[in-house]
Amino acid sequence: MRQWAAPPRVGIVLGSGLGEVANGLRDAKKIAYKSIPHFPQPTVHGHAATLHLGRWGEVPVAILRGRVHLYEGFAPAEVVFPVRVLVLAGVKTLVLTCAAGGIARRATPGSFMILSDHLNFQGQNPLVGPHDERWGPRFPDMTEAYDADLRRLALRAARARRLKCFEGVYAAMLGPNYETPAEIRALQRLGADAVGMSTVPEAIAARQMGVRVLAIATITNRAAGLARRPLAHQEVMAMGRSAARNLVGLLDAVLPQMA
Ligand code: HPA
Repeated sequence: MRQWAAPPRVGIVLGSGLGEVANGLRDAKKIAYKSIPHFPQPTVHGHAATLHLGRWGEVPVAILRGRVHLYEGFAPAEVVFPVRVLVLAGVKTLVLTCAAGGIARRATPGSFMILSDHLNFQGQNPLVGPHDERWGPRFPDMTEAYDADLRRLALRAARARRLKCFEGVYAAMLGPNYETPAEIRALQRLGADAVGMSTVPEAIAARQMGVRVLAIATITNRAAGLARRPLAHQEVMAMGRSAARNLVGLLDAVLPQMA
C-alpha cells in the first residue's frame, strides 16, 4: 500500500462480469495479485486479478478486481485474505458485489439486490480455527451484518436513478454447480431472495474486524427451475457486464457519502 499516498477508506470487491467498474477510479495504480505476497490467484474465467488503488471522486478507494471462491478449492482464510489486507491498509467500509440467481419474484435479471441479511449454506466459515484476537472477537455479532445506513443510502440512490433495486436475503452455496430446482424451492421456503457462491465469507471476516459492509448482488438470471431453460455461465457473465454500467452509477451516488 506504500504505492499510494492516501490510505484507502473504502474497499470494493467486484464480482462476476463487473470488472469494468474498476475503470471508475481516477489516478489508479494497478497491482497484479501475483506481485502481492500470499494473494490468492483466481482460476475462474471472467475474473481478473488486479488490485486498483485510486480515487473515486474524492474518496481514496481500493478495488479488488477478481475474487477467489471456496469452490476453487481455496481455504476460507485464503478467500478472505485480500479483504483482511485492505482492512489493515485502512479500509473502514467494504462494498461487496456479486452475481446472483433471482429467487424472489421481483429478483429479475438486470435488477440489483441490496443484501439485508444472508444464509450461510457453504458449510464453511473463514473464522474457523485457532482464534487470533487481532482480527476481532471469537464470536462476532451478526445481527446487522449489512449496515442499515448504507443499505438505505444505496436504495435511495438506486431509486433516484430509476434502477430496479430491492433489499433481500442472499443464500450462499458452495457451488460450483448451479442449484437444483429442489434446492431453489427449499431456499425459497427458508427465506432466500437470491442465491450465489460468494460474498458471505468476506462479509463475515469484515464484520469480525468491525468494518461496515454494503453488499450488492446483480441478479443475472432466474434461479434454477424458475425459468424454463438451463443456466449458463456465459449468460451470467453477459448480464453482469451489462449491469456494470448501472452499478457504476450507483457507486457514484453512494461513495462520496461513505468515507
Ligand atoms: N446460482 C448460484 N450462483 C449464481 C447464480 C445462480 O443462479 N447466478 C449467478 N451466480
